[in-house]
Amino acid sequence: MSKNDDFEKMVTEIQRKIEREEELTYSKTVIAEYQNPNNFRNMKSPDALGKVKGSCGDTVKITLSVENDIITDACFWTDGCGASIACNNMLTNMIKGKTMEEASTITSTKLLENLGGLPKEHAHCATLAVSTLRETIKDYHKD
Ligand code: FES
Repeated sequence: MSKNDDFEKMVTEIQRKIEREEELTYSKTVIAEYQNPNNFRNMKSPDALGKVKGSCGDTVKITLSVENDIITDACFWTDGCGASIACNNMLTNMIKGKTMEEASTITSTKLLENLGGLPKEHAHCATLAVSTLRETIKDYHKD
């Protein structure tokens, strides 16, 4: 076995160890949302934009397309943790097709419920996502 093969074997083992630890820490839903964040993208000419910096120092931005008061598209950006990506992806999927009023009633408790929970130390990531959505809705109503 060459040094290169040894190195690849070591990398694969480390990768498997990380995945096992992730599975012990996070729900299947959180891992799926984090691994496939379909709404983690930029939106050109959004109808509403909200940006909030959380107490952890990470920033979340949510943008919406709205037609006749219905959210037709929702995107986000964050420089935050993996849990933040999962939270914002789930949240932006939850609000698509909803009215602005319906979206404004979503709480971090509901978001955490839909994600199958988060470790205590990451619960604030859900709060940051919902706070950003509220700022985005405020932005929509500001005119
Ligand atoms: Fe800052 Fe998760 S968003 S730690």
